[in-house]
Amino acid sequence: MSNNYSRRSFLRTAGSVAAVSALPVTMIELAFAKPAENFTFAYISDAHIQHIRGTKFVNNWDRGLIRAVAETNLMMPRPDFVMFGGDLAQLGTRAELDHGAEMLARLNGKLYCVMGEHDYYDDLGEYWSKLFGPQHYSFDHKGVHFVVLNSILTFDDWTHNRWPTPQQRMLEMAGLDNPNGSPFMVGDKQREWLRKDLEKVEKDTPVVVFSHSPLQKIYKGWNFWTDDAEQVQALLAPFDKVNVIYGHVHQIQYNQIGNISFNSVMATAWPWPYPQSYAQAEQFMPKLTIPMNRADPFFERDATGWQMVDVNTGRVGLAYNLYNNKSRTVAFDPKVGHPVDKELQSVALEPNRTHY
Ligand SMILES: [Fe+2]
Ligand SMILES: [Fe+2]
Repeated sequence: MSNNYSRRSFLRTAGSVAAVSALPVTMIELAFAKPAENFTFAYISDAHIQHIRGTKFVNNWDRGLIRAVAETNLMMPRPDFVMFGGDLAQLGTRAELDHGAEMLARLNGKLYCVMGEHDYYDDLGEYWSKLFGPQHYSFDHKGVHFVVLNSILTFDDWTHNRWPTPQQRMLEMAGLDNPNGSPFMVGDKQREWLRKDLEKVEKDTPVVVFSHSPLQKIYKGWNFWTDDAEQVQALLAPFDKVNVIYGHVHQIQYNQIGNISFNSVMATAWPWPYPQSYAQAEQFMPKLTIPMNRADPFFERDATGWQMVDVNTGRVGLAYNLYNNKSRTVAFDPKVGHPVDKELQSVALEPNRTHY
């Protein structure tokens, strides 16, 4: 784990900004011994910019993104690029996407974007693509192969035949627990593209995949789920070092399936509850997910935050800097073959806290 991006040293760097105690930004360091050279990138996700009327937008969501952009611009050394992990908009309208794009345009340096369901289901990604380009693509950077997938597609029948208006379709997919929603999937066409894309990549090249929904199955009722996750995982299985980084869940999760390390990133907008806090719900929460004390209604930014991810030798280690919660480090432990929370080994809540 590098010390270069300790929270304290970053805060010193960013000391000229008024409110820097919580950074809803993910700082990621890739530290592969070979063949890559070390570098960092920042990760911002799930801004959910929401239009009210006229020129009015939900202020709290605006502030989350504005702040992340400002803090990312202050990071030293400079991140090589910035990822935005999807759900830039709340209901996928042009007004929301334009407003979000305007804020993201203030980022210094290269921006890559992932499609979220809140960006997609109004016009099926048309305007988003005009602003940000293709919905799935790959690129190589300093010896690492990066892949961006649109994982929030669903059945054609649900998309095209079920709803009287595009706005209704968007509303149905936007709810967390709406039974009228439909499972997310990468889909045949994109999986075939991924298979071909990976053909040209050496098996010892580190691979980092970005998706919006988890490429693993956690809880279907809330679409913390990708229906063809196993088929995507099978395409990634031949590679020695694979990391999947996803947004959408607005909470900290990590997991290990075979050679694939999974890590979620925090939202700049709000936290979702943990499925395991809903006793009636069947769920497949990764066992090692970190219980986080959240969300305290007295702190509008509770359960948001940022983390530095160090992918030393191809296995991710995350230093979580949680707003109103103590910092944690979760790193791959080769002795047990999966990520381990350095401090907290059980799922019990910390003393004197009774809520997630
Ligand atoms: Fe989201
Ligand atoms: Fe989402």
